[in-house]
Amino acid sequence: MDARDLIYMDNAATSWPKPDEVYAFMDDFYRHNGVNPGRSGFDAAISAGDLVENTRKKLNAFFNGDLPERTLFCHNATDGLNIVIQGLVKPGDHVISTNLDHNSVLRPLNCLERDGVADVTWLTPNEHGFIQTADLENALRPNTSLVVVNHGSNVIGTVQDIAAIGAILKDHQAKFVIDASQTAGVVPIDMKAWHVDALVATGHKALMGPTGTGVICVREHLEIGQTRSGGTGVRSAFPYHLAEYPWRLEYGTPNLMGIGGLWAGQRWIEENGGPAAIHAKEMAMVQTFVDGIKDLPKVTTYCCDSLENHLATLSINVEGIDAMNVGIMLDVDHDIATRTGLQCAPKCHESIGTFDLHGTVRFSLGPFNTPDQVQTAIAAVEDIAQ
Ligand SMILES: Cc1ncc(COP(=O)(O)O)c(C=O)c1O
Repeated sequence: MDARDLIYMDNAATSWPKPDEVYAFMDDFYRHNGVNPGRSGFDAAISAGDLVENTRKKLNAFFNGDLPERTLFCHNATDGLNIVIQGLVKPGDHVISTNLDHNSVLRPLNCLERDGVADVTWLTPNEHGFIQTADLENALRPNTSLVVVNHGSNVIGTVQDIAAIGAILKDHQAKFVIDASQTAGVVPIDMKAWHVDALVATGHKALMGPTGTGVICVREHLEIGQTRSGGTGVRSAFPYHLAEYPWRLEYGTPNLMGIGGLWAGQRWIEENGGPAAIHAKEMAMVQTFVDGIKDLPKVTTYCCDSLENHLATLSINVEGIDAMNVGIMLDVDHDIATRTGLQCAPKCHESIGTFDLHGTVRFSLGPFNTPDQVQTAIAAVEDIAQ
């Protein structure tokens, strides 16, 4: 399928297409230097190692983390969140998370609760899709060891005030972890200013890398326990996995081609004015979209009365038609790709009242959508709703 034939509005699942520069860099780098990084001394291995370390540096600066060696590569956000959650929670702990979180947070925490390791409190968003800091303060207990918060919802697009949450947690023993999978690349992130202890983001959404990439960024004062062991490429005689970063939380040969994509994605974000500029362009289109459909009879939109602190992600339903069928009509009749159902975030749907409706139809715009495509999508929703 060529990107020109499809109106792709499923960027919250993965951004597509990627910038041409990302494809080109990945192809070129992997052809010429696609060897095992950090393991050998020949030129291509040194170039491969340099790419990994330079991308680490760039991403560490991008999130304003403490040290490049504490910015780690993993397979995706699910992988990173499992590494962080399992490495931080101990028997008898209490954990706080939110109903806006994705299954990559819900399921690891549900397992810990089911196995009797930890108790979990879930914060519910208000009717506009935002977590209330007073609820967080009330939920904190003396044994709360971890607070994991979704930065940007992959269902309703609301962006949480991480600085306000961090201000509450900075003097509490609980570690503060954010899932920035939907925001990294479109919302400027400042781990230090916001008192975030660890951040996890997937690499294949607004960071513009390929699937199979993820990033963990850990502040200097935080120790995350190791839950895996294996090859590190250095100090092979040592019988255990190395405790020093970056090896501490990186296991085996990294996804060099994927890291190349993240490197080129970073350069593309810089060349396009940075996250805020890319976001502003996307939000102008989403505002037009919302304005075009919100008053249509039979159409319900969720948590987008105001698009302040919002991503270019919009959930809707059409009265009388199951979300899945709306998605099929958009695809078959209008060549518009969306995502329907619960979008791996069942608790969010419980909160907005769409769980029993089988979820929503989610439109998520990216930097390569156009105002014309938005007009086509408005007309398509109107057509389906009639
Ligand atoms: C908010 C959020 N967290 C985590 C993930 C998981 O990302 P991945 O599937 O790359 O592990 C997603 C993906 O949709 C997401 O939207």
